[in-house]
Amino acid sequence: MQRDNNYNAGFRIWHWLTVLSVFGALFTVLLRSTFLDKKAVAEILLQKLAALGVHLDPEQAIGVAKAIRAPMWEWHYIFALGLGAAIVLRLLLMATGRAELPLLKVLRAPDAMERFKAAIHLLICLAILVIALTGALYYYHDALGLAKESVHWAKELHEALLWPLVLLIAAHIGGVIRHELTSKECLVSRMIHGDEIRIS
Ligand code: HEM
Ligand code: HEM
Repeated sequence: MQRDNNYNAGFRIWHWLTVLSVFGALFTVLLRSTFLDKKAVAEILLQKLAALGVHLDPEQAIGVAKAIRAPMWEWHYIFALGLGAAIVLRLLLMATGRAELPLLKVLRAPDAMERFKAAIHLLICLAILVIALTGALYYYHDALGLAKESVHWAKELHEALLWPLVLLIAAHIGGVIRHELTSKECLVSRMIHGDEIRIS
C-alpha cells in the first residue's frame, strides 16, 4: 500500500533531533555503567596508587572516580536539553497541523499492520515523554523545593524505562529496515530529504 506520509521539514528535524538526543543520552548511560563506572574507576585508582605507595580510603577513591566521570555525565543533561527541544518542537508541529497526535495515528490506521507500527511509535513517544518528565523532576527537585527522597520514585521510573525504550527502538529500527527491504517507498530517504528530490 502506498502511503501518503508527508515528512515536512519540521517533522524531519523533530525526528532526527529526537534520534540524536536519545542515542546520545543512551551512550552516556553506557559509559557510566562500563568504562566510567565509579566502582570500576575507584578500583583502578586504589590499585595504581597502592603500587606507587599511596594509600587512599575507598570512599575517597569513589569521590575521585565521580569527579572523573562528571564531565562525561554533563552530556546526559546536554542531550536531555536536545530531547526537551524536540518535545517542544513536536508539540508546536501538532498544534500547527504539521504532525499528528501519535494516538490519532493508531486510531486512524487503515489495517492491523499499520496499527501495530503506529502503536510502537505511540509507545516510543510515551516512554520518551515519561523519561524526560521524570528526569527533569529529579534534576530540578531542589529548584522545585522538593526533598530528594520524595522524588526517588521519579529516578526509579526514569531508570526502569531504559530497557523498554531500547526494545521499542530496536523494534522500530528493525521495522524500518524491513520496510526498506520489502517496499519501494524509501521511507528512510524520505525521512532525510522529504518527498522532494532536488537534482542539480
Ligand atoms: C532513537 C531512535 C529513534 C526514535 C526514538 C525514533 C522515533 C520515531 C517515531 C516516534 C516515529 C513516528 C513518528 C510519527 O509518525 O509521529 C518515527 C518514524 C520513523 N522513523 Fe524513527 N526513531 C528512531 C530511529 C530511527 C532510525 C535510526 C531510522 C532510520 C534508519 C528511523 C526512521 C524512521 C522512519 C522512516 C519513520 C517513518 C515511519 C512511518 O512513517 O511509518 N528512525 N521514528
Ligand atoms: C531517552 C533519554 C534518556 C535515557 C535513556 C536516560 C536514562 C537514564 C538512566 C539509565 C539513568 C541512571 C544512570 C545510572 O544511575 O547508572 C539516568 C539518570 C539520570 N537522568 Fe536520564 N535518561 C534520559 C534522558 C534524561 C532527561 C531528558 C533528563 C532531564 C534532565 C535526565 C535526567 C537524569 C538525571 C537527573 C539522572 C540521575 C543522575 C544521578 O543519579 O546522578 N535524563 N538516566
